Amino acid sequence: MNVIQILRKEIKEFTRASVLTPFFMIGEVVVEMMIPLLMARIIDEGIDGHSMPAIVHVGTLMLVMAVVGLFFGVAGAWSGARASAGFARNLRKDMYANIQKFSFANIDKFSPSGLVTRMTTDVTNVQNAYQMLLRMFVRAPFSMIIAMIMAFSINARISTIYLIAVIFLAICMVLIMTRTTKFFQMVFKKYDNLNESVEENVSSIRVVKAYVREDYEKSKFEKAAENIYNLFVRAEKNMIVVMPLMQGTVYAVILLISWIGAHMIIGSELTTGELMSLLAYCMNILMSLMMVSLVFVMVAMSSASAERIAEVLTEESSLQNPEDPIYQVRDGSIDFDHVDFSYKEGTGEFALENIDLRIKSGETIGIIGGTGSSKSTLVNLISRLYDATRGEVRVGGRNVKEYDLDSLRNQVAVVLQKNVLFSGTIFDNLRWGKKDASDEECIEAAKMACADEFIERFPDGYQTVITQGGTNVSGGQKQRLCIARALLKDPKILIMDDSTSAVDTATEKKITDAMALAKPGMTKVIISQRISSIANADRVLVMDSGRISGFDTPENLLKTNAVYREVYETQVSGGDFDMKGGEAS
Ligand SMILES: Nc1ncnc2c1ncn2[C@@H]1O[C@H](COP(=O)(O)OP(=O)(O)O)[C@@H](O)[C@H]1O
Ligand SMILES: [Mg+2]
Repeated sequence: MNVIQILRKEIKEFTRASVLTPFFMIGEVVVEMMIPLLMARIIDEGIDGHSMPAIVHVGTLMLVMAVVGLFFGVAGAWSGARASAGFARNLRKDMYANIQKFSFANIDKFSPSGLVTRMTTDVTNVQNAYQMLLRMFVRAPFSMIIAMIMAFSINARISTIYLIAVIFLAICMVLIMTRTTKFFQMVFKKYDNLNESVEENVSSIRVVKAYVREDYEKSKFEKAAENIYNLFVRAEKNMIVVMPLMQGTVYAVILLISWIGAHMIIGSELTTGELMSLLAYCMNILMSLMMVSLVFVMVAMSSASAERIAEVLTEESSLQNPEDPIYQVRDGSIDFDHVDFSYKEGTGEFALENIDLRIKSGETIGIIGGTGSSKSTLVNLISRLYDATRGEVRVGGRNVKEYDLDSLRNQVAVVLQKNVLFSGTIFDNLRWGKKDASDEECIEAAKMACADEFIERFPDGYQTVITQGGTNVSGGQKQRLCIARALLKDPKILIMDDSTSAVDTATEKKITDAMALAKPGMTKVIISQRISSIANADRVLVMDSGRISGFDTPENLLKTNAVYREVYETQVSGGDFDMKGGEAS
């Protein structure tokens, strides 16, 4: 499907308004064209002929025409606006719906800020271009042709001046516009960079301030803004000559016509009224020409935007539900069968290489390893946030690709490393885990995650409103709420990706003990930087640069695995600074 076909589907609902608009505009033109003719009659019959009744008669007719013209103009503007605004609404709605289906890999491809630009600036471009197209694309050429015919019917000889002027201007416009369009198209690509800079900075403004990176961020943003400024200036530099060129031509034509016309009037080949109408048509023809070239520029400019929109609309989620999905996960066992994984397929850069491991249902597994050793990547394959590039990931004995996606994710709960709360009460946030959970269930999950102790200290308790992004709770409190939210799902497998990093070790131990007691059958996978967090795990997986360095009980690892021993020694012998308690952040 090409871009036009894809976008046409979105306009279908507004076919009637889209078809009616040009007709209204034509109506307006027809009426507008009558006015100079009537003008000529007022002058020739009324003024030169000294007849008051003629002036009243033709004047009334002109008034009626003006009202009819106004009606057509308003109707055209209204239906054009309706069609283009509706078009934009449909585009945004369908883009948004499709984005909801995107996998992590799809989102990586566009980047969140790229998606924002496409849904805002690009849609607005297409909307404006479409409105312009509806209102002007038929109207302007039509108006030009009618005016030309009218002018020729008044006096063919003098009207050849128009023809020459139009051809001259058309050539100039084509030359200027092709150059300008190129710059405008470049501008829209730069908007992505600008938005990226804004989004990154504003959404993490607290971090930026904490690290005193304002100046760096400011210069990054200024560079993006400067880029756009330069392109706009270059584009406008090209446009600058358009107006003087237009006006120069108009004045030249008016002068020529007045001069030749005056001679013709003296020679009685032309009346004064006819000369007046000829001058009115002159403006009309040249304005229409300008409108036509403007439509071309807008359409050309928006074509880049249209393509970017179509890309989002047609992007297929890289994770598809299988034909005949399984809805039940049998147990909490996890197997990796010679798994390789690459974020960028085809580059040969692998984030995971030859991962082969068996985890029994109900086991508690710790994962440890340096930052960037692909711990998060590994667990993301379990709930199928990404698909393995080679090999097979199995949950409950079946390949994760065989499960219904929603069912799998409900039974494999992940507390992500970069986690977010949403605006709403604590109850609302917890119920993301289970829509119809009762208050008691929510409280029970919060207790298990040791969240109830601080929630109860809030004046509004569980009805406390969390601000957007969860900025009104501390890091440790947020993490505990996220754990409670995941526990509410009552999953067969719970994955915690560094989810207790901001919780003190004493509280952390309380959480793991409570979970072990309440949910003994649940498989727990705990990623942590701290030895103390995984010391009680049945087995620990040591990751090193995307490979398994060791997978054994903590006691055995201490004897056999150098990486583990090193981490152990620096943290335990050095004295665990976290042991003091209190909250780390
Ligand atoms: N969405 C992504 N796109 C491309 N590369 C990624 C993405 N996420 C992580 N990586 C890369 O994969 C490697 C492992 O990252 P990650 O699994 O997050 O490590 P860890 O959780 O152990 O700190 C890193 O080199 C990181 O840069
Ligand atoms: Mg990580």
